[in-house]
Amino acid sequence: MDTKVLSSGVQYSNLPESYIRPESERPRLSEVSECEDVPIIDLGCQNRAQIVHQIGEACRNYGFFQVINHGVALEAAKEMAEVAHGFFKLPVEEKLKLYSEDPSKTMRLSTSFNVKKETVHNWRDYLRLHCYPLDKYAPEWPSNPPSFKETVTEYCTLVRELGLRIQEYISESLGLEKDYIKNVLGEQGQHMAVNYYPPCPEPELTYGLPGHTDPNALTILLQDLQVCGLQVLKNGKWLAVNPQPNAFVINIGDQLQALSNGLYKSVWHRAVVNVEKPRLSVASFLCPNDEALISPAKPLTEGGSEAIYRGFTYAEYYKKFWSRNLDQEHCLEFFKNK
Ligand code: OGA
Ligand code: NI
Repeated sequence: MDTKVLSSGVQYSNLPESYIRPESERPRLSEVSECEDVPIIDLGCQNRAQIVHQIGEACRNYGFFQVINHGVALEAAKEMAEVAHGFFKLPVEEKLKLYSEDPSKTMRLSTSFNVKKETVHNWRDYLRLHCYPLDKYAPEWPSNPPSFKETVTEYCTLVRELGLRIQEYISESLGLEKDYIKNVLGEQGQHMAVNYYPPCPEPELTYGLPGHTDPNALTILLQDLQVCGLQVLKNGKWLAVNPQPNAFVINIGDQLQALSNGLYKSVWHRAVVNVEKPRLSVASFLCPNDEALISPAKPLTEGGSEAIYRGFTYAEYYKKFWSRNLDQEHCLEFFKNK
């Protein structure tokens, strides 16, 4: 049987040729150690100044962190993970009705990253949804599993609140007004990638997702609790970010790197796969409004610091992002001031 998705029920005993990375690009899994000092920020803490300080440190030094006591009901996250598993367990015929390779679609099941542009494929299937405004997009979401729409609606609503709250902390940590980021980004879009990484016969030869930075403003990742796979680049080394119960991994996207004039880094990260178990993750992306004009924040470019990036609209950026291959140079490089 030959289907477009990996989650077809077929067991692969060899990695198909089109997934094999050239020697120099392989993950070298045995050289990866665990990141033992991932900042874990307790958002339940009553001391706002302390949260802001911790977030600032994490953004400057890591570009990512985990949050606990984050206000997203644990039940909502658990149900989200369950319904995601349920979706990928559906019969392949059912799933293929949603299949598309067109990145402009607001709801689609796809595979790898950008099948039409890439030269080597990635060991991943993903369901990609637009999630805001909900009343516009939820009606087009899958209706199977039957609880999908309701569960994802609840989850998206809570995750959005969390993301906007974190943006306030990030604004303050840059010495900007609390609403600075919110005001610049305008009415933000929200997208979701439900990532499914099937067991892979040869994890040393391929990726679930190769190293990349996220093109949006802020990413909120719900990781599979049982199966590791997320790795981040720190000081030139890939480190595993192992799942922590009841936590989300937050990472700065390209837009906040630009807005912070490079003070905060949109961290390089990747997902690796394993032989034994499928892995699931749910990434929620807060995205600037298409018309939002992104540029280094004025207060950060006064007093001698030059703006590293030119102004651009998010629409312009996003078009550039999808016209490339995922693991090429940082997309922000194209937007630097000369
Ligand atoms: C992403 C991503 C990581 C993961 O979807 O952009 O980086 O662990 N996912 O699935
Ligand atoms: Ni990512």
